[in-house]
Amino acid sequence: MSAQGWLRTVRHSKSVSFLALNDGSCLGDLQVVVAPERMGSGSALQGLATGAAVRVCGELALSPGKGQRFELQATSIEVVGGVDDDYPLQKKRHSFEYLRTIAHLRPRTNTHGAVLRVRNAASRAIHAFFQERGFLQLHSPIITSSDAEGAGDLFRVTTLPLHDPPRTVEGAVDDAKDFFGRATYLTVSGQLEAEIGALALSKVYTFGPTFRAENSNTSRHLAEFWMVEPEVAFCDLKGLGELVESFLKDVLRTIREDCAEDLAFFDARIDDSVLSSLEFVIETPFERMTYSDAIERLKASGRAFEFPVEWGVDLQSEHERWLTEEHVKRPVVLTDYPKAIKAFYMYANDDDRTVAALDVLVPRIGEIVGGSQREHRFDVLKQRIARAGLPPEEYDWYLDLRRFGSVPHAGFGLGFERLVQYVTGMANIRDVIPFPRVPGSATF
Ligand code: 4AD
Ligand code: MG
Repeated sequence: MSAQGWLRTVRHSKSVSFLALNDGSCLGDLQVVVAPERMGSGSALQGLATGAAVRVCGELALSPGKGQRFELQATSIEVVGGVDDDYPLQKKRHSFEYLRTIAHLRPRTNTHGAVLRVRNAASRAIHAFFQERGFLQLHSPIITSSDAEGAGDLFRVTTLPLHDPPRTVEGAVDDAKDFFGRATYLTVSGQLEAEIGALALSKVYTFGPTFRAENSNTSRHLAEFWMVEPEVAFCDLKGLGELVESFLKDVLRTIREDCAEDLAFFDARIDDSVLSSLEFVIETPFERMTYSDAIERLKASGRAFEFPVEWGVDLQSEHERWLTEEHVKRPVVLTDYPKAIKAFYMYANDDDRTVAALDVLVPRIGEIVGGSQREHRFDVLKQRIARAGLPPEEYDWYLDLRRFGSVPHAGFGLGFERLVQYVTGMANIRDVIPFPRVPGSATF
């Protein structure tokens, strides 16, 4: 048989050499045993160094050594791509900070290879969950003219010359002269377009990159991240809570089955609670709690939080983590947040001060999912858009959906990288996406 890949390590003993060969298909290396007398003429050991790309022919045999069941006893080796002496990934372990500076090579490490395989498995599991339940994937646009969250964290997309843009008679930049004849941005969420899909096809989901120009330098924020956004017609907040719980459990179960070797690695090397917390989330019913209830419990906790808690404040990571990690010790579906701190599209509850919002909080991460029942009443929505100070003419089409066959509908957004962080135990979100984009840094 033959095998090809990159050498992870090269070890010479008196009569034989041992090569650890990896092609990224799984965590374990293939042990290649090179005994010169078994090698055909013309095969040399030159160039066999950590990092080199090689193709090996030989016979697969049971391995007498420890650590592997099989080994490949080489009869010929070809160095397909040699490696310079300064290859940065020599044997010793590197810090994740350092590896971020060589993002073009870090997929060749055990950890990042495992992360990328888990990402792939997670993506497959997500598609499978929705496809098996009759959801249609909707491809929402990346370039958009609307601010889906109404929060203003938008990256502008333009072909206007930066230094000397065309101007209107009033002196403002003339967006009408831009490529699309108007101002456009990278999307912060595919939700509004998903609502168009749901109100025609009943159950849809989007799964695409989203972009936020918030200056958040945290271990949970990226400027470019991937979001999964299902949207369901004829669905209220309670139905959404059931969907999100079965979704997370199902996806985690599938990843656990598909990535057993990689998850055992994360449990042994990165965070020894990875496997037990996965098991726990899969088996334990999620806690349900309203925001108001959560505020009461946070106040009664006796904790001195950095950000004080009062009804009406947005929950900080420290609050979310206390609730899920220490208080109820399981995932929490938190609902009915104050209207003032949530987006304009959320369904206004009868109490006139909360909206039918839903966040899912999990240990170690805090918020992993944000969603809501949508405001489907034309008059109420129109007022919310105006109160939020959003330009009403940009949302005409969104309001139309409330004039023509409006129904209660709901959806959520899962931060894909936060899911991968949760599953792998990786502490920093920059290490679970191959090409992280954060304030001040965008390599490639
Ligand atoms: O809570 P968010 O902002 O909700 C929305 O965008 C809704 N439109 C979703 C919907 O209802 N269809 O974002 C959803 C999730 C968050 O819970 C978080 O997991 C993730 O997206 N997220 C981020 N992940 C990485 N970096 C960032 N800067 C993120 N911002 C949000
Ligand atoms: Mg949110």
